[in-house]
Amino acid sequence: MSQDTRDARSGNAKKHVPTLLKPYQEENTMKLKIQTLFVVITVVSLVVTAVILYSFNKQLHFFALRLSSRSPSPPHIVFIVADDLGWSDVSWHNPNMITPNLEKLARSGLILNYSYVAPRCSPTRASLMTGYYPHRIGLQYQVINHGDRSLPLSFDILPRKLKNLVYATHIVGKWHLGLCSWKHTPTFRGFDSFFGYYSGREDYYTHKIGKIYDFNFNTKVYNDTQQQYSTFLFRDRAVDIIQQHNPSVPLFLYLPFQAVHGTLQVPPKYSNMYSHLNRNRATYSGMVTAMDEAIGDVVSALEKRGLSDNLLLVFLSDNGGRPLKGGYNWPLRGIKNTLWEGGTRAVNFVYSKTLLKDSSSVSNHLMNAADWLPTFLAAAGSKHVDLDIDGVNQWDVISKGAQPVRSEHVYNIEGRAAIRVGKYKLIKGDPGFQLGEHQPVFDFIGRGRRTANGWIAPEDIGSEKTRFGKPIAKRYGLFNLHEDPLEEHDISEDFPDIVEKLIGRLHHHMNLSVPYVKSTPMTKEYSRLNVMIPGWCDE
Ligand SMILES: *[C@@H]1O[C@H](CO)[C@@H](O)[C@H](O)[C@H]1NC(C)=O
Ligand SMILES: *[C@@H]1O[C@H](CO)[C@@H](O)[C@H](O)[C@H]1NC(C)=O
Ligand SMILES: *[C@@H]1O[C@H](CO)[C@@H](O)[C@H](O)[C@H]1NC(C)=O
Repeated sequence: MSQDTRDARSGNAKKHVPTLLKPYQEENTMKLKIQTLFVVITVVSLVVTAVILYSFNKQLHFFALRLSSRSPSPPHIVFIVADDLGWSDVSWHNPNMITPNLEKLARSGLILNYSYVAPRCSPTRASLMTGYYPHRIGLQYQVINHGDRSLPLSFDILPRKLKNLVYATHIVGKWHLGLCSWKHTPTFRGFDSFFGYYSGREDYYTHKIGKIYDFNFNTKVYNDTQQQYSTFLFRDRAVDIIQQHNPSVPLFLYLPFQAVHGTLQVPPKYSNMYSHLNRNRATYSGMVTAMDEAIGDVVSALEKRGLSDNLLLVFLSDNGGRPLKGGYNWPLRGIKNTLWEGGTRAVNFVYSKTLLKDSSSVSNHLMNAADWLPTFLAAAGSKHVDLDIDGVNQWDVISKGAQPVRSEHVYNIEGRAAIRVGKYKLIKGDPGFQLGEHQPVFDFIGRGRRTANGWIAPEDIGSEKTRFGKPIAKRYGLFNLHEDPLEEHDISEDFPDIVEKLIGRLHHHMNLSVPYVKSTPMTKEYSRLNVMIPGWCDE
């Protein structure tokens, strides 16, 4: 526009200059030069005035817009997800852990003390991306294995929705939501870039799962990892994105680390910090500390690039820890892959310098993994957050301390199921074992059934504190989580009316379940490639 204005002005000037000059041409050249100079100065000042007026007007317009809509520019969103990080594996729950960067962010932000996720990876990630409970997506059972199942294409997922709000969108780390066709992969679903792996786990250095190499940059196999430890590969890529990001564009950086999922691997520098502990716990704890350091580096990069003043940073674990692989949920009951609180109550906090009314505090409001999608959209200024989904917009609760918006939470509906309504939790079936039509059970249960249903303390807290619990005795168990957050007392026999009421709510949700998504296992042709490459199914 300003270019046009300038062109119009100079066009005007060109027209007039010759006629003005004509009469003086016959007189002396000195006069002519002075006159020319005068004209040039006039023209230049006219142009400059026009430009100033134009830009001033534009600023006024910009101000007016900001005032009228009262919408500040959308915040940069950095969403960090840790894999299999247990409740007692961060320093603000267990002072033996070394996580200074995370603790600083958590303590100066808002700790979400009752934030729930599904008991396993794929169901949680499916909820994060869609805003639905896993049983409404068809990913409620097991996990996606070698891309045998995929998050259905009928869902319009979070990065696409943020992209529509002009966000730049990047995923760095673990996808684990399918790859049987290219259309299921991150850059076809709304991410501008993808740097990471498709599957659920792999070697931290070779980036292989079994014989299959799985590391990618956008749609290409990336074979320049040079056996680098994945936590630092992902940190470097995240820092790179931040350094190259134009601060005037809102950024969505989804950073689902491989850490701290098994296999247990970390550079010795980090496990040595815990050399007094048994090998599994020392390695696992070192993995947590390495991730903490990487997150510190990402936050520094955000500061340096000037992105931290209008930043919303969320840190979340995708499910509980698994004692067999060094992660613990003490004092909560149960482990990963169980419907106990230890499997489903996530380490979670929100950090922002500018967007939180109540910072340095703790919220005990219920939050569910499905809530992040509408919450992020609301934070981004979207007018379309009242979607007909399971997730509810918690942005005012988080940013302004508004009244709670969620009183009910579905843990998962598999063969077994659990629901929380207010302070009561109803469990159907054995929360420690995955039962029902869609077996088999994975070996997530460490030393067996007792571990899965127990209160298992890490060695650094004191293994004498470990207690092995029994599964609930009846078909349904009931717990009062306000009085009994550790699920020690099944009160179902004392409150049959509450049990009935919660069964009704559970049935309501069970009736909305959709079948497990169809399996389209990797073909022989593809598995022979020994590289994780999408594309063996049509859709
Ligand atoms: C967080 O929840 C636990 C119960 O599981 C409770 O003991 C603790 O006091 C809560 N924290 C705060 C600050 O409310
Ligand atoms: C890495 O990828 C490039 C391009 O795809 C290929 O030319 C090269 O052979 C690969 N190197 C290895 C070690 O696989
Ligand atoms: C669930 O569906 C069953 C059978 O279709 C029906 O009998 C029952 O009333 C439904 N329950 C709820 C709570 O909607």
